[in-house]
Amino acid sequence: ARPDHGSVTFPVQQAAPAPERTARTRHFVMCPPTHFDVVSVLNPWMDPAVPVDRDRAMSQWSGLVAAYQSLGHRVDLLAPGPGLPDMVFAANGALVVGGRALGAAFLHPERRPEAALHRELLAELGIAVHEPVHTNEGEGDFAVVGDLVLAGTGFRTDRAAHAEAQEVLGVPVVSLQLVDPRFYHLDTCLAVLDDTTVAWFPAAFSASSQQVVRTLFPGAVEATEADALAFGLNAVSDGRHVLLPVAATTLAADLRAAGFEPVGIELDELVKAGGSVKCCTLELRQEERA
Ligand code: ARG
Repeated sequence: ARPDHGSVTFPVQQAAPAPERTARTRHFVMCPPTHFDVVSVLNPWMDPAVPVDRDRAMSQWSGLVAAYQSLGHRVDLLAPGPGLPDMVFAANGALVVGGRALGAAFLHPERRPEAALHRELLAELGIAVHEPVHTNEGEGDFAVVGDLVLAGTGFRTDRAAHAEAQEVLGVPVVSLQLVDPRFYHLDTCLAVLDDTTVAWFPAAFSASSQQVVRTLFPGAVEATEADALAFGLNAVSDGRHVLLPVAATTLAADLRAAGFEPVGIELDELVKAGGSVKCCTLELRQEERA
């Protein structure tokens, strides 16, 4: 009999099964590491005294392309420019949302010529690129989570570029302050898993920005420092499969427990320049927004 007053005890639930995750087919732009090298120090990972093995970089990068293609994603290639050793990091070339693009304006003069090459390819693909006024390094510092854009600042992208992105693209942009030079781009310390979920390394953010992320994403997956330093958060998800560096084993296990399918990628040759999976991958989001 049901008591007519007081409290009732809910039946004890078994541990909730992880939700079924659904992949959405993506369209990426990537650039082969034909001219890859470490000749200057743009971030703490780069040491010109450490030689790079370009053939190894190329075969690792090709493995990432093959992994995307085997999952059914489209990869368009950007022709590598001679004298642009960091051009393999295609994520930095633009931010494309709802068929509109904000072009990049690189902080370092070494990388500035890359922006025009991105603009030309996007134009060929039918995407008009807005010329930026303020310094921004594309998806290195802009992460699209559903209807929201998270934007990093502190090392590369100017805070004013966040407002510029919001105005150009018509999407709400939330600024986040980065505080650890090892995590100099937002995509080194925060990964988008699906339209409502992120993984991140909180200590890379200011205390206030940590609060902002916790408010927006109470279910965010936290990475260990070791996995963050292994570039585990420099990951690309299609909503179900999460491609991330093989070394980030704890994160991979946590993603699996959350219902995602981690796919290990070896890109350690590119880590010599401070980048991995996400840095190599620019996403084109061409669907019109509501
Ligand atoms: N060496 C490059 C730089 O410092 C690495 C860029 C990595 N890209 C990224 N999206 N985090 O600019």
